[in-house]
Amino acid sequence: METLKAIEVRKSTRGFKPDPISEESLDIILKAANEAPVGMSAFDSIRLTVLRDAALIAKISDAATTGSAREGQDIYYGASTVIIVSSKEQPVPELTFANAGCIVTTCLLAATDIGIDNVYIFGCVAGFRNDPSLLAEVGIPEGFTPISSVALGYATEGAAVVPKAKRQIGINRR
Ligand SMILES: Cc1cc2nc3c(=O)[nH]c(=O)nc-3n(C[C@H](O)[C@H](O)[C@H](O)COP(=O)(O)O)c2cc1C
Repeated sequence: METLKAIEVRKSTRGFKPDPISEESLDIILKAANEAPVGMSAFDSIRLTVLRDAALIAKISDAATTGSAREGQDIYYGASTVIIVSSKEQPVPELTFANAGCIVTTCLLAATDIGIDNVYIFGCVAGFRNDPSLLAEVGIPEGFTPISSVALGYATEGAAVVPKAKRQIGINRR
């Protein structure tokens, strides 16, 4: 698939089958993540944590939604694989979010390119904030904070037909 085609057809999937993606597909996506731009080349300030354990993924979701209006909903929509993007504190704090955005987007496009459905999930941040014991449980190293995540898998029939959201980004030109 051409890069521009992957950009065009990528869309958020909000319903996944339980089927796992292959290790080979996961490796392609992780390799792509490693090629993402990172501010000031601070690659060692980023950590990716791959979760393939449904019970562990569900714990993050529960911690994110308990006591909120989304209680009982799965923030990962049943995805079988999740990549958590964590960051060390940066001299310029906004860099953590900017870097995570680059890494997640690179993963989403790589996944789209190889036919793996995907969605950007920021909601995990609330889960780790509400239950910091999850940091150790999922293996996020000391000093790293979860910033964003990627959900990967195969869309359920209903999710597959949801059209891509209408584009409405304003553009100024001079
Ligand atoms: C920074 C960021 C955080 C997001 N977090 C979530 C999330 O927690 N849950 C979710 O369902 N979608 C999340 N999304 C997906 C957006 O809702 C989605 O990209 C947007 O609606 C446009 O739809 P599209 O991805 O199908 O083009 C996030 C997207 C971005 C860029």
